[in-house]
Amino acid sequence: MPKPKPNRAKSESRRESPAALIAAARLAAKNAYAPYSKFKVGAALLTVSGEVFPGCNVENSSYGVTNCAERTAIFSAVSQLGPKLEIRAIAVVNAGNTPCAPCGVCRQAIYEFGPDATVFFLSAKGWEELPIAELLPYGFRLK
Ligand code: THU
Repeated sequence: MPKPKPNRAKSESRRESPAALIAAARLAAKNAYAPYSKFKVGAALLTVSGEVFPGCNVENSSYGVTNCAERTAIFSAVSQLGPKLEIRAIAVVNAGNTPCAPCGVCRQAIYEFGPDATVFFLSAKGWEELPIAELLPYGFRLK
């Protein structure tokens, strides 16, 4: 019989640290399908209940069909959790450590499920940790 593990609070879980979320995004970037741009991106989102969902960009020979890493993570989370998804934080990385801020479409997609979410990404100045509302002022809401 295995020994019971100490009952750690969710907020102490290692997977919730920014470093762990960024590591999960970096791992997801390895799965990217980016034969056209060669720009592999990974994302990992953290839900308010402490679950992590990864995503990568998936390109298409009809370029506009391409899906960014952030939206892959969000769509995957919704497909597994249902529409109740609430994003607490999301990390975005390029596999080659090129600065990569979330695109405008992804900012709106993040805002839909996490109007108070924190976004981690590498800018030309270094790592940024910004509220989505700062990256997307006046984000659109239908209600
Ligand atoms: N890309 C993302 O995955 N996330 C972003 O926020 C910016 C752009 C991807 C889309 C495309 O496959 C590649 O990066 C180059 O634009």
